[in-house]
Amino acid sequence: MADYSPPPAGVDRRKAPEPALVTGPIEGDRYKSREFAQREWNGLWTKVWLVGALESDMPDAGDFMTVELGSESILLARGDDGRVRGFYNVCQHRGNRLVEGEQGSLAAFTCAYHAWRWGLDGSLLSVPDEADFPQGSPCGKLRLEPVRVESFAGFIWYCLDPDAAPLADFLGEVADHIASYRMENMVRTHWVTVEGQFNWKCVQDNFNESYHLEFVHPQTRFIMETRGMEHQQDLYPTGHARILIEGCRPDPRYADDPAVAEGMREELDFWGLDAADFAGQATDMRAALQRRKRELGAEKGYDFGRFSDDQLTDHYHYSIFPNLSLSLKPDGCIFLRASPHPDDPAKCLFDMWYFTLFPEGVTEYHSHTMDEMVSVDAQVPHVTGIWPEVSCGPAIDQDVRIWNAQQKGLSSRGYRGGYLAWQERRVRYLHQTLDRWLDAS
Ligand code: FES
Ligand SMILES: [Fe+2]
Repeated sequence: MADYSPPPAGVDRRKAPEPALVTGPIEGDRYKSREFAQREWNGLWTKVWLVGALESDMPDAGDFMTVELGSESILLARGDDGRVRGFYNVCQHRGNRLVEGEQGSLAAFTCAYHAWRWGLDGSLLSVPDEADFPQGSPCGKLRLEPVRVESFAGFIWYCLDPDAAPLADFLGEVADHIASYRMENMVRTHWVTVEGQFNWKCVQDNFNESYHLEFVHPQTRFIMETRGMEHQQDLYPTGHARILIEGCRPDPRYADDPAVAEGMREELDFWGLDAADFAGQATDMRAALQRRKRELGAEKGYDFGRFSDDQLTDHYHYSIFPNLSLSLKPDGCIFLRASPHPDDPAKCLFDMWYFTLFPEGVTEYHSHTMDEMVSVDAQVPHVTGIWPEVSCGPAIDQDVRIWNAQQKGLSSRGYRGGYLAWQERRVRYLHQTLDRWLDAS
């Protein structure tokens, strides 16, 4: 065995103080009413910081991405000075949508209607018949309408509120946690968007509780602690939240189930351990894997130096208000997000991205999440469509199936509003935080 040295502190895992929570039912109307969706548009979506794109989606000058948010389209473009800027994707001549398509590279944006040319910095470069404007040339006068952007953790974030506090204030303490995983070094190896037949909050509610794990994802009993009451939950003053779930071992109630060996086999194999050696003591797998990862991490191309032992095996799952979940591991991250539908509150756009940290010297390996091989060299396509024609991976598909059915129940006149367990308090906190934003606008 290699020399043992104490593990580093890793991410701050201290329990956050519990905030005061309101009580009362969470009404079904919040998931279907147009009036409530309009309040969310005015008080939430146009005020908060949101992830737009990856830095790596647009590495060079002229690279651009368009991002849909409700009925708006936001244009992100990297200028000749290397800076990414954000704009409403609207030609300021007579309002045509300026750029079609999600991604590309151009020296300037030429509107399809009257050929006004807009620079990567939002300035108006040229217009046909420039002398024909009685009020004077629009060049040097008009600009694309700006949207604030900031870069953090490999993402381009944007915010439609010109007066909003900076991203660092919005994220608060979770920014340090996320930064420590260095997501900018990870590669997006799955990029899936489905049009969901459910309100965006069905998604964020779901990833805000672990109560359903054992029932919706029965396979997780063999590879993690599924008892929701055993999970540490942190509800931060910013409205973001975290849950810590011990992984790489079965739930003790299922420790003797033969399915444990199968569920853990791939991880144990990779680290040179044998499930047979844990007969009668399967919950010891977690500590054994932590030791093994310390011993063999560097040899396998990983730098685990800045992570604590529990980070090597456990799920550090962050809910970033309002609509993003990041489940972080040193070697990868699942990114789950639901965005509002342009015109139907009972629908949303649900994204599943998976990020892989390819160990040094490794260009291809098997992804647990999608159960397929992934390669560092192949740029993944953006797969879009309707679920279940488009899959979000075997585990997340189990959640999507529920949301489709849940939306129908939430829309029923017979639904009396949510009745939540204490372990579902992050769901409560999401709605409480949402109300705080809506009431402030
Ligand atoms: S609307 Fe764009 S050039 Fe006329
Ligand atoms: Fe789930």
